[in-house]
Amino acid sequence: MQFDVIPIQPEATRRNRRIEEGVNRVLRSYDRVRSGLGMQGRKAPYDDDRYEFLGGPSDTLRKRHYDKSLRNLWKAEAHLPWSDFADCSAQERQLRDVAERALTSTESSAVARMRQGDFKAMLDREYTPAQKRAVVNILSLIGHGEAYAWLVSAEVLNEVKSTGARAALTMQVLEEAKHFVVLRELLLAFDMPIPRMCGWEYLLLERTYKSTGLEKLFGMNVVVEGFALSLFGLLAHLPGLEVLGLFHLDEARHTALPKNYFAEFPMTWWESHDPRAQLRRLSLVLPAVPVLFWIEEDLATLGIDACEFGGSLARKVLLLADRVGFKVGLSRGQLERLLDWSFNRYCKATRPGFVGRSFLSAETTRRPDAQAVEREVFGAGGLDAVPDLGAGPRPRA
Ligand SMILES: [Fe+2]
Ligand SMILES: [Fe+2]
Repeated sequence: MQFDVIPIQPEATRRNRRIEEGVNRVLRSYDRVRSGLGMQGRKAPYDDDRYEFLGGPSDTLRKRHYDKSLRNLWKAEAHLPWSDFADCSAQERQLRDVAERALTSTESSAVARMRQGDFKAMLDREYTPAQKRAVVNILSLIGHGEAYAWLVSAEVLNEVKSTGARAALTMQVLEEAKHFVVLRELLLAFDMPIPRMCGWEYLLLERTYKSTGLEKLFGMNVVVEGFALSLFGLLAHLPGLEVLGLFHLDEARHTALPKNYFAEFPMTWWESHDPRAQLRRLSLVLPAVPVLFWIEEDLATLGIDACEFGGSLARKVLLLADRVGFKVGLSRGQLERLLDWSFNRYCKATRPGFVGRSFLSAETTRRPDAQAVEREVFGAGGLDAVPDLGAGPRPRA
């Protein structure tokens, strides 16, 4: 490459550099001294000498969460063609058009019907007004939860160490924003009033948002996302709600994040076992139980037993908490027995002729692909074994 070099004065360059070196030394020393005295020095947790955030590169976290999120990134325009989202690129639209031209006439008429058909009319055909109201009441729980997930993940982004973990949290912020706006659009299409948050949920989400530091990961990525994962798994097989299968895949990644993060930056023994922290976690998770009874009637309208859903959900959340190392005062087995006993007591008091059984062994995730994702997340394989969207060889995590 040929450039016409512009002549400059070497002495001026040397002088400019000397001045910069002096200014740099003063600024950095001032911030170092302030930090040493416990005052605010440099605010950014960033090491420009190493071109890295404090904590190092954490490439494994980056590959497991950031890279995987981008591989599985989905667009609302492609999956909710009836909505007013326009988030596909020109190439994506072109690819879709090419794929559609290759369809047989029967296949293309099915696609065209989906595209042009009135989504709201389809909902009216598939659901009675009472069923539509029930779907909206149940899903709005998660709709409000997505708003808090967006807020909380944006704060956790500034709490984690390393480049890889920040990249992972950045993708979570993006996905929570997408979950909130897409779910909102989906719920509005049901043309039913969207209820406010119930008091128990308000308590759970506000306390999660107000948690300090990485304790937010317990309230959000373990409890709230465990709840969301279970609800998406519960409803993704219903007509018009197929897109929830994609939400489910995203939430599977989010629930695995604390385990992967603490594998690289472990909690101290005290952070995990501090009795006050354990009590706080227990008191944070307990309001999730009455939420189930608040939506019991809506779940029943859709043929779902609230206690079965609660049992399936509790088993997963307790497993996640245990695996990450978030102690909650009682052992996992004790909590499982306590919850099973509570569900049975509740049913004995409210259901004539009820025969006792184990709700904690129930499984309410319906779609086989969602079941496969959960088997991998909750099984021995962990998140690495979660399949990507689409076919093709899986890149090494
Ligand atoms: Fe979400
Ligand atoms: Fe999430």
